[in-house]
Amino acid sequence: MNRNRKTRFVLAVGSLAACFAAGCRAPGMPGPPEVRPDQVMDFNVLYKQNCASCHGEQGHGGIAISMANPVYIAIAGEQTIARAIDEGGPGELMPAFGKKHGGFLTDAQVNALAQGIVTRWGRADALAGATAPPDAATLAGDPAAGKAAFATYCARCHRDTNDRNAKPRNAGPVTDPDFLALISDQNIRSTILAGKPDEGMPDWRHLGTQPMSDRDITDVVAWLSSLRDAAHAATPTQTSIAPQGEQKR
Ligand code: HEC
Ligand code: HEC
Repeated sequence: MNRNRKTRFVLAVGSLAACFAAGCRAPGMPGPPEVRPDQVMDFNVLYKQNCASCHGEQGHGGIAISMANPVYIAIAGEQTIARAIDEGGPGELMPAFGKKHGGFLTDAQVNALAQGIVTRWGRADALAGATAPPDAATLAGDPAAGKAAFATYCARCHRDTNDRNAKPRNAGPVTDPDFLALISDQNIRSTILAGKPDEGMPDWRHLGTQPMSDRDITDVVAWLSSLRDAAHAATPTQTSIAPQGEQKR
C-alpha cells in the first residue's frame, strides 16, 4: 500500500509537469480560441488543470485529501484553502501554485479556486451547530497521551503496527513510518477532523463514543509524528552500512 501510494504520487507529479509543458491539450486537437493561461478564471477549468490529478476529478477519490468534504471546508475555511494553494503544503507533497511562490497561478486564480471549492462542495450546516477544534494545532502535543488516545479513538479501525499482538484491522497502517513519511502532521490533523466520508472514516465527532477534544487530536498527531521522527533517526547512514574495505571481499 505504501509503495503504491508513493508510485501514484510520482505519477501524479509527473503528469502535472507534463501538463504544464504541453499546455494540457491533447495532441492534434484544435484548441479553443486562445485564452492566455493567466486569464483563465473558470473554476472547472482551473480545478481540472491544476488539482484533479491529486485531489480527484470530482474533489474526492484522489491520492490527496478530499476537497469535496463539507466538514473539511467548514473547518479549514476559504482563506486557509487559498493559502495552501498559493504556498503549497502544508507539508512538502503539494506544490505551490502562486506566482510569488514559483507557481503559475495569479492571486485572482488562486482566490477563484478557493472560492469555487467552498461554493461547489461546502455546506452551511456541515457542522450541525458543533464547534470544531481549530484547523491548525495551537496546543503542544503529548506523545504518551497520544498513544493512549490512539487506542481509544483509532485502534478499532487502524491496527497499531508497534503492537505485535494487535489484531488486523480494515483501515491502513497509519502508525507505519513508511506511511507517515508521506503525510504531514497538518494533513493527519485535517483527516482526523474531517474524516474520509467516502471511505468509511467518520469525522472527529464520531471516532469514539464521544467527540475527540482538541487536546486528544493534538496528542495523537504528536505521537504519530514521534514515530516518524524515531524511524528517521534510526535510519543507518551510508557509511555505517558499507564500512571501508568491506566491498573488496
Ligand atoms: C501533486 C499532487 C497535488 C496537486 C496537483 C494538488 N495538491 Fe493539494 N495537496 C496534495 C497533498 C499531498 C496534500 C497534503 C499536504 C501535506 O500534508 O503535505 C495537499 C493539501 C492540500 C490542501 C490542504 C489540506 C489540509 O490538510 O489542510 C488544500 C486546501 C489543497 N491541497 C488544495 C489543492 C488545490 C485547490 C489544488 C489545485 C490548485 C491542489 N491542491 C493541487 C497534493 C496535491
Ligand atoms: C471507523 C473506522 C475508523 C476510525 C475510528 C479511524 N479511521 Fe482513519 N481511516 C479509516 C478508513 C476506512 C480510512 C480510509 C482507508 C484507508 O486509508 O485505509 C482511513 C484513513 C485514514 C488516514 C488517511 C490514510 C491515507 O492513505 O491517506 C489517516 C491519516 C487516518 N485514517 C488516521 C486516523 C486516526 C489518527 C484515527 C484516530 C484519531 C482514525 N484514523 C480513526 C477508518 C477509521
